Amino acid sequence: MKLYEYTINKLNKSFATKYISKKIIDKEFGEQICKMVYDSAIQDFIDYSEEFLMYQLKLEAEGKYKFDTQIDAYKDFNWKRYLNGLLFSHSFWINHYKIFQFFIDFCDSKKTGRIVDVPIGTGIYLSEFIKRNPKWVGEGYDISKEAVMFSQNLNTSIITQKDIFDIKERYDKIICSELLEHLENPETLLIKLSDMLEDDGEIFFVTAIWAAAQDHIYLFKNVDEVRDMLKPYFNIKKELILNVFSKGKAMNYACILKHKCL
Ligand SMILES: C[S@@+](CC[C@H](N)C(=O)[O-])C[C@H]1O[C@@H](n2cnc3c(N)ncnc32)[C@H](O)[C@@H]1O
Repeated sequence: MKLYEYTINKLNKSFATKYISKKIIDKEFGEQICKMVYDSAIQDFIDYSEEFLMYQLKLEAEGKYKFDTQIDAYKDFNWKRYLNGLLFSHSFWINHYKIFQFFIDFCDSKKTGRIVDVPIGTGIYLSEFIKRNPKWVGEGYDISKEAVMFSQNLNTSIITQKDIFDIKERYDKIICSELLEHLENPETLLIKLSDMLEDDGEIFFVTAIWAAAQDHIYLFKNVDEVRDMLKPYFNIKKELILNVFSKGKAMNYACILKHKCL
């Protein structure tokens, strides 16, 4: 069983667990435990996908997201399901996969500098960037302590629990994926990002259009609504626009942003 062998290889890499493999008596039980852990994570992705469809049906019927404040949206929130679901989605939801490939181009950087990922969520974006650009200094922030702990597992960069609006520093690159639609006043985020970006810096930016989730609050109805909000603050250098379904208004939108004057 590959999962079991992978686990043993991992254990062999730590001074605390490298002796375990030599003492294992019941390999079958070990395999069962590995499967239980994996099953729990993949079930989170399945539940997260079902929840998305349920919220999307509600959106199609009522023309609005379920919640209109962050406080209500994060009440009774299942962070484990959310973060495991989100992590799997980067490979198994075709749009998230394509957005991740779009991000890989953003990782292609000759010079060095400072990069921030906010909200860091699972941590996969920052981890990929630093893997490809080890000389860059990375930081991550999220208001959720669960996201901070989860993303720390994937990253060696410093990750801190903080509201984006409390960040005072400026960065050469910013990763800001899926935050705009989570805010009651999304335009304030664009002002903040503009303040946080060095003069010749760039932002990898992602948002959702007419695509439901428990914590989506601000409803964009089409791509132009997003562009109209971005354009007073930024030049849109490159875009990736993806339909979620073969019919309907649901879309994922990703772009690269630079300061307006450049
Ligand atoms: C959909 S996740 C996005 C995670 C990650 N960027 C990604 O694309 O996979 C939204 C995240 O925004 C975080 N968040 C919401 N409001 C925030 C704020 N004001 N400052 C920092 N993080 C915030 C939430 O805790 C959550 O982890």
